[in-house]
Amino acid sequence: MSDSHMKGNHKPLRIAVLVSGNGSNLQVLIDAMQAGVLPIEIVGVISNREDAYAVTRAKEASIPVAVLSHVASGKRMGIKTFETHASAQLTTWQPDLIVLAGFMRVLSAEFIDNMPAPMINLHPDLLPAYKGLDTHQRVIQAGERYHGCSLHIVTAELDAGAVLTQALLEINPKDTAVSLQVRVQKGEHQLLPWTILLIANGIIDLNHPHNDAVPSYLPALPLKLWLNN
Ligand code: GAR
Repeated sequence: MSDSHMKGNHKPLRIAVLVSGNGSNLQVLIDAMQAGVLPIEIVGVISNREDAYAVTRAKEASIPVAVLSHVASGKRMGIKTFETHASAQLTTWQPDLIVLAGFMRVLSAEFIDNMPAPMINLHPDLLPAYKGLDTHQRVIQAGERYHGCSLHIVTAELDAGAVLTQALLEINPKDTAVSLQVRVQKGEHQLLPWTILLIANGIIDLNHPHNDAVPSYLPALPLKLWLNN
């Protein structure tokens, strides 16, 4: 995080967002940016799916979009080809922060290590538990009492980077995987802008995610948001 983002009174944080699907989290960022309540500029969106509704959302907001479809003319684009194009695009946009918001391809260590900016991922569970997919179903099957979502730094190991923030909720006996998905998404829509505000204001320092080099008046990570939804 550069000094220019400390104290929240400087240039907006330039954000690139990677998506694969509906893009409801992208929409929250677009709305917050347009309302002037988050000091961000979404400089571009990359989708690996042409039919992702997130692409429509970005276009409607006049945000540059790169569709790097994983299937073109019936041929699957390999992850290396995707990464070469995505890397070039990100270098052009020069983001301060890259956000994976519902991006469903696993990225290589080489790509992650050579990013032009820190990269964070939104994950639908309370990491380090339940990495990977089908998290809502898995927490129910395991009889968990709590669930939620996490924002963490992306590292080469899947869903294993430092956890920055989490939104927690209590699982009700009547909850299903579908109801949990709805409740967790509500949490994501609060957690994502809240976390980006903390990053933009220099309160969460992505270069020192374990808080070992920041003043002691800042709380230890992960910061937790308790949800009543
Ligand atoms: C979100 O719930 C996010 O946590 C999940 O995809 C959804 C995207 O929703 N991400 C992952 O599962 C990543 N492994 P959206 O497209 O409406 O923002």
